[in-house]
Amino acid sequence: MAGTQHAQWSSRWAFIMAAVGSAVGLGNIWKFPYEAGEGGGGAFVILYLIFVFVIGAPCLIAELSLGRRGQKSPVNTMKSIATEEGKSTMWGLLGWSGIIGAFIIISFYSLVGGWVLAYIVKAAMGFGGFDAAQSTETFLNFIADPVQPIIAHFIFMAITVSIVARGVQGGLEKAVTVLMPALFAILVMLMIYSGITGDFAAAIDFLFRPNFHALTGDKILNALGLSFFSLSLAMGSIMTYGSYLPKDVNIPRSAITIAGADSAVALMAGLAIFPIVFAYGLNPGGGGGLVFMTLPIAFGQMPMGGVIGPLFFALLAVAAVTSSISLLEPGVSYIEERTGWSRKKVTAIIGFSAFLLGTLSSFGQPGNLLGDLQFFGSMTIMDVKDYLTNNIIMPLGAMFMMIFVGWFVSRKAMMEELAIEDKSFRVWYFLVRFICPVAIFAVFANIIYDTIIQPMLG
Ligand code: TRP
Repeated sequence: MAGTQHAQWSSRWAFIMAAVGSAVGLGNIWKFPYEAGEGGGGAFVILYLIFVFVIGAPCLIAELSLGRRGQKSPVNTMKSIATEEGKSTMWGLLGWSGIIGAFIIISFYSLVGGWVLAYIVKAAMGFGGFDAAQSTETFLNFIADPVQPIIAHFIFMAITVSIVARGVQGGLEKAVTVLMPALFAILVMLMIYSGITGDFAAAIDFLFRPNFHALTGDKILNALGLSFFSLSLAMGSIMTYGSYLPKDVNIPRSAITIAGADSAVALMAGLAIFPIVFAYGLNPGGGGGLVFMTLPIAFGQMPMGGVIGPLFFALLAVAAVTSSISLLEPGVSYIEERTGWSRKKVTAIIGFSAFLLGTLSSFGQPGNLLGDLQFFGSMTIMDVKDYLTNNIIMPLGAMFMMIFVGWFVSRKAMMEELAIEDKSFRVWYFLVRFICPVAIFAVFANIIYDTIIQPMLG
């Protein structure tokens, strides 16, 4: 809509909280600990940190810069920068892939967010005397239920919608500036509790002592994929948040802050979770069930478990909400821009559609209505969406975005956006032009080889 002022963050602080809120999510507190657990602890952690700072942060800088330069929703940001640079408006497709990817992710992300809400309640009622079998059964019965997870999923989406509908300053900013400090406070509290009552030494050993043997090829790829997911890259979230960024905020410095806070939270989450896991003799490699099936056993036995349990799931819920708003925002900004409809209406429509798509992920859980439906061997509906977004849309999107920034946008334009000294710019430019696209392509090629070509060859 020509003439209307594009929204803006009211301060650098508000932007940092929003971006860290987007980055810190289920990826840090749910996925990171279990992937580290499966990937050999310290070896995975070191590699993950290298990926975050050497590959992820340069991409973060690139995506934020595109957003701020374009000043529009991802589709029109890509189109207008391409036009400005005399390149094809086909680059707008990259905006589309982000918007669609974010829409698919939020459809199952908010389902897991719903599980987390339900587990706040379950934890408050107590996991008294839970053994492994009971804990597993409780979770599997819950996700197999056709109704309960859907209600929780709906509530989670309604919370997300009610924040996004209020706009950038009135909604997103208000929510993140309250929720992110709260998240940090809860996390520190849990870490201290866990450090005092749990087996802190074992956790440190596990998280920081590298076991390079466990670090097989696919674990390396997991680390790179997770670093991208965790930084919210290539799905339009960061580009949209960048479009609200005032011109005087330094993007490279902000990106380092965001990447630092994001990895700090992942490590802190590990230090809150693993001391408990080891103190109760539980299995650190519990996979996706670590949080929902392993931890409740400990909450059921520990002193004050009835307080610590709900607090832990509240932490996860806060992290998930501040991420899901960033997944809804790209689509909302595009449709709003395109139609001129009210933000409330647009947010409600997109939120409800994503909710509907998400119900399929719930019905596709083992034992649920569509639980027998399996794709490509043994994938559930949720696995398919996860695979499509994490392994295809995200790496391809990120790779083309780096190629666009590194090879199609003029060097001068990027220098203007970054506003850093020449030497740092050259380092960043080199990473974006060569290292990032090649590294991302390697990951993508490996995924395709492992999951598609090799099985075909038998
Ligand atoms: N980064 C969030 C997490 O770690 C999830 C997320 C939010 C995301 N926005 C995104 C992931 C955009 C990919 C792309 O849980």
